[in-house]
Amino acid sequence: MTSFILAALVAYASATVQDPKVSPRPPMGFNNWARFECNLNETLFVKTADAMAEKGLLAAGYNHINLDDCWSELTRRSTGELHWNATLFPQGLPWLGDYLHTKGFSFGIYTNAGNMSCGLFPGSQDYEEVDAKTFESWGVDYLKVDGCHVDLQKGRSYYEEFEYRYKLWHEVLTTKLKKPFIFSQSAPAYFSPNFHLDLNNTDWYRTMDYVPRSGELARHSDDIKVYGDNPTNVFEPGGHWESMMNNYNMEIRLARYQSCGFYNDPDFLIVDWPDLSLDEKKTHFTLWSSFSAPLILSAYIPDLTKDEVEYLTNKDIIDVDQDALCEQATVVSQDGPIDVLTKNLANGDRLVTILNKGNTTKTATVPLQRLGIDPTATYRAKDLWSGKTTSVCTDFSVKLKTHQTAIYRLSAPKGKNFTVTPTGQIFNTFSLNCLTASSSHHSSASVTFETCDGSDEQVWQISSTGQVSPLSATDTVLGVDGSKIALQKMNKSNTAQKWKYGISGNLVNKDSGLVLEEDTGGKVSVKKAGIELDSQVFALPGGVKLE
Ligand SMILES: *[C@@H]1O[C@H](CO)[C@@H](O)[C@H](O)[C@H]1NC(C)=O
Ligand SMILES: *[C@@H]1O[C@H](CO)[C@@H](O)[C@H](O)[C@H]1NC(C)=O
Ligand SMILES: *[C@@H]1O[C@H](CO)[C@@H](O)[C@H](O)[C@H]1NC(C)=O
Ligand SMILES: *[C@@H]1O[C@H](CO)[C@@H](O)[C@H](O)[C@H]1NC(C)=O
Ligand SMILES: *[C@@H]1O[C@H](CO)[C@@H](O)[C@H](O)[C@H]1NC(C)=O
Ligand SMILES: *[C@@H]1O[C@H](CO)[C@@H](O)[C@H](O)[C@H]1NC(C)=O
Ligand SMILES: *[C@@H]1O[C@H](CO)[C@@H](O)[C@H](O)[C@H]1NC(C)=O
Repeated sequence: MTSFILAALVAYASATVQDPKVSPRPPMGFNNWARFECNLNETLFVKTADAMAEKGLLAAGYNHINLDDCWSELTRRSTGELHWNATLFPQGLPWLGDYLHTKGFSFGIYTNAGNMSCGLFPGSQDYEEVDAKTFESWGVDYLKVDGCHVDLQKGRSYYEEFEYRYKLWHEVLTTKLKKPFIFSQSAPAYFSPNFHLDLNNTDWYRTMDYVPRSGELARHSDDIKVYGDNPTNVFEPGGHWESMMNNYNMEIRLARYQSCGFYNDPDFLIVDWPDLSLDEKKTHFTLWSSFSAPLILSAYIPDLTKDEVEYLTNKDIIDVDQDALCEQATVVSQDGPIDVLTKNLANGDRLVTILNKGNTTKTATVPLQRLGIDPTATYRAKDLWSGKTTSVCTDFSVKLKTHQTAIYRLSAPKGKNFTVTPTGQIFNTFSLNCLTASSSHHSSASVTFETCDGSDEQVWQISSTGQVSPLSATDTVLGVDGSKIALQKMNKSNTAQKWKYGISGNLVNKDSGLVLEEDTGGKVSVKKAGIELDSQVFALPGGVKLE
């Protein structure tokens, strides 16, 4: 069976960003893990489904109900198949699948790319096709494949075994089933910065490079911290708020990978956790929606409060999450406790999201120029939390309580459309330093990498032809002279002032083909491109893909 699949793998094709209809928008729904871990059973899923329908969550779009680890027997059946634990699921998983389908939900299940699950139940390594067909026979529509206990075979490295297994799953799900499952891939999490303690992002980027073509979503980094107190787990760092911010900080490095059909997944929305304030939970929902991330709730749904259900069903914000462009908002600026994010929306509106990470109330001011739009016009801004629309000109000002996030939909004046210039931070997604236009303490170099501080020297505009200029000096652009990089007077016919940017995260000079590099001490140079080197991978504003 395996060798047959191997042959088929050569013709690695179809689905996902190639086939966005498998999941045209980021999935929304429920998973038991962060809230209940291995304490799952039929009653929990039945009550969850009933409550999701009754509380209006299903109608709001939360239509996937997914089982996580620990649902199976401890060993495979003698025929090689997996089987559910009949004590936990007395009527069986096909019955549960039917129950969910009848109510209007899809049915999701979980397995592992390795030979055991994280909870030490059987894994699917070398049983990919058998298990996919078993799940299909139970009515499954959605599959999460985690990455525990991957056994290295045929001399493959850890990275290579993961790549082999996830591409194999893709092949099985797209060629061996009547209809492909939505495929949630955990591969990148196993190479992410906190997990791989060798402090090298290369294999994380290389894994992210293939997952948009092998599945519909990818769990890219640490798990969100599970319910209850678990302070020692280094893979779920800090408390629950810190865990949320950790996953947010991973997500912002990866915007370039997302497009309709493939979604970066910063993990579950945690809802009914006593140590999170309502503002913190609303921040979670606002940020994930700004990213067009999957909205998968982990909570005891029957006991959700009216306030919790109300924020989770905010239609204006869900519309941002489910927007037809599927853009992930990118970072305009990070200035101490205040982060500003923005993105385009399908009807031509512009999204503005402002987060206060700090412990005190702050007033944030965002000049309209930083949103990449004409700063001399007047716009209508709808506050998606209050529902109120106001007029905005020159800049935006908002007072935010600790850990609160504001979200606005900005509309162009009547009869006009926005002309958007992608504008925001350019930062190294390994060092997290920001590209900075000349500042007095670096008189010898006109660009450096510095700690991000939200200054105009760190906010860059990117033209459609690939010119990159700082807001602090918009008549200058990043240009290359030999091997030296500097801010130069803009010259539209000089290709050494134009750049390309794509999934590699490299900023490639159109003239020399050399790439931007952050050297030690924050120095900047252009070098020959390596393969996803820590010093050469950057996040750019506006989800730009410049060819
Ligand atoms: C099912 O799981 C829930 C959540 O862990 C638990 O509270 C409940 O007691 C369990 N019910 C049964 C019948 O095992
Ligand atoms: C099913 O789950 C129960 C409760 O966790 C456990 O005691 C039992 O051993 C499991 N049965 C099988 C066949 O794995
Ligand atoms: C599962 O993988 C582990 C880790 O490589 C290995 O030690 C073990 O022998 C494997 N078990 C089976 C049953 O293949
Ligand atoms: C980072 O990892 C890649 C791939 O494993 C390796 O080629 C490279 O040398 C590593 N870089 C550093 C600085 O360790
Ligand atoms: C907020 O308070 C926490 C806990 O006291 C502290 O660890 C953290 O550094 C503070 N954050 C900021 C941005 O001041
Ligand atoms: C604005 O864009 C929409 C959609 O692309 C288009 O139909 C409309 O004509 C444009 N309006 C103006 C004033 O350019
Ligand atoms: C602009 O760039 C072109 C192409 O490199 C060059 O031929 C021309 O001399 C430049 N113009 C100025 C004013 O520097």
